[in-house]
Amino acid sequence: MGEKVSITDVGPRDGLQNQPGILNVEERLKLIRAVAAAGVTAIEVGSFVSPKAVPAMAGTDQVVAGAKSDGSYKPSALIPNLKGYELAREAGVGTVAMVVYASETMARENAKMSGQQAMDITRSIVSLAIEDKIEVTATIAVAFACPFEGATAPDSVARLTAELLEMGVNNVVLADTIGAADPQHARMLTSRLVDSHGAASIGCHFHDTRAMGLANVYAAIESGIRKFDACIAGLGGCPFAPGATGNVATEDVVMMLEQMGFDTGIDLRKLMAASDLAAELTGNAPGGRASAWLKPRLDRF
Ligand code: COA
Ligand code: ZN
Repeated sequence: MGEKVSITDVGPRDGLQNQPGILNVEERLKLIRAVAAAGVTAIEVGSFVSPKAVPAMAGTDQVVAGAKSDGSYKPSALIPNLKGYELAREAGVGTVAMVVYASETMARENAKMSGQQAMDITRSIVSLAIEDKIEVTATIAVAFACPFEGATAPDSVARLTAELLEMGVNNVVLADTIGAADPQHARMLTSRLVDSHGAASIGCHFHDTRAMGLANVYAAIESGIRKFDACIAGLGGCPFAPGATGNVATEDVVMMLEQMGFDTGIDLRKLMAASDLAAELTGNAPGGRASAWLKPRLDRF
């Protein structure tokens, strides 16, 4: 068995939040179950955000209720504020992903707050979450570049990461929200953070806008990162970040890592069935870049 890499499929949240068509709770659960059936052990099943801001994520409480009964994977949910935390706790989700920001404009556009407010709220959430036995991931949005402010200073991300880990978050995820990172940037930033804090609590979330998603995953692997977000069928995108397209596809990440000898614990054949389902349900999934090659050869996996 190779070295383990853990993958969180964020398709049911990042993927579905940006779709022109809105899936109902049963359809969202069908997709989640298909991803789980492939052996994915962490799935971001939705978000507790204003349904006026993101109509596709309304009903995430019902999705969590349906997801919890499974037990084969850890459901998590994205939250933007304290109200989101309270709703996530009431729904019974075990992990929340609170969003913080490496740019002021993105903080305002996404959550109508300042970067400092998002950090202060995260600190409050961490103290509640310890009592509630809920894990907190802090996702640093626009960690590489911001659609409004341009390139993000690595010093800002380093400062935020240190402060988040000091306040007690369980994991920090560096999000390339608009898919602007290149492998050199990814390697430089991740190796700096791994040098300072180790790799155990740091993950990466790459969008594939400029076709560098997999290369960025590899660069982060070289720095020692072993936790990645990815989206089934390459879905994904942020409604508040102009220019963001899909995340790196889970099936591409699994194929690359398994071929390199890592152990993701994920069955690629079943994952491709989940990818087909995502395409069928959304009518709009880009699919993994390797799909055309993979599909006729699935009996090899
Ligand atoms: N979940 C559900 N509803 C929420 C909420 C949450 N986490 N936070 C606030 N609300 C509701 C309030 O109850 C209020 O409802 P009402 O109009 O029925 O009274 C309404 O949203 C406005 O509340 P307010 O605190 O003034 O929020 P806002 O207008 O300043 O918007 C956010 C801030 C964060 C709630 C909103 O911008 C949001 O949900 N954004 C989503 C961000 C996102 O999902 N981005 C993509 C992923 S990173
Ligand atoms: Zn994203």
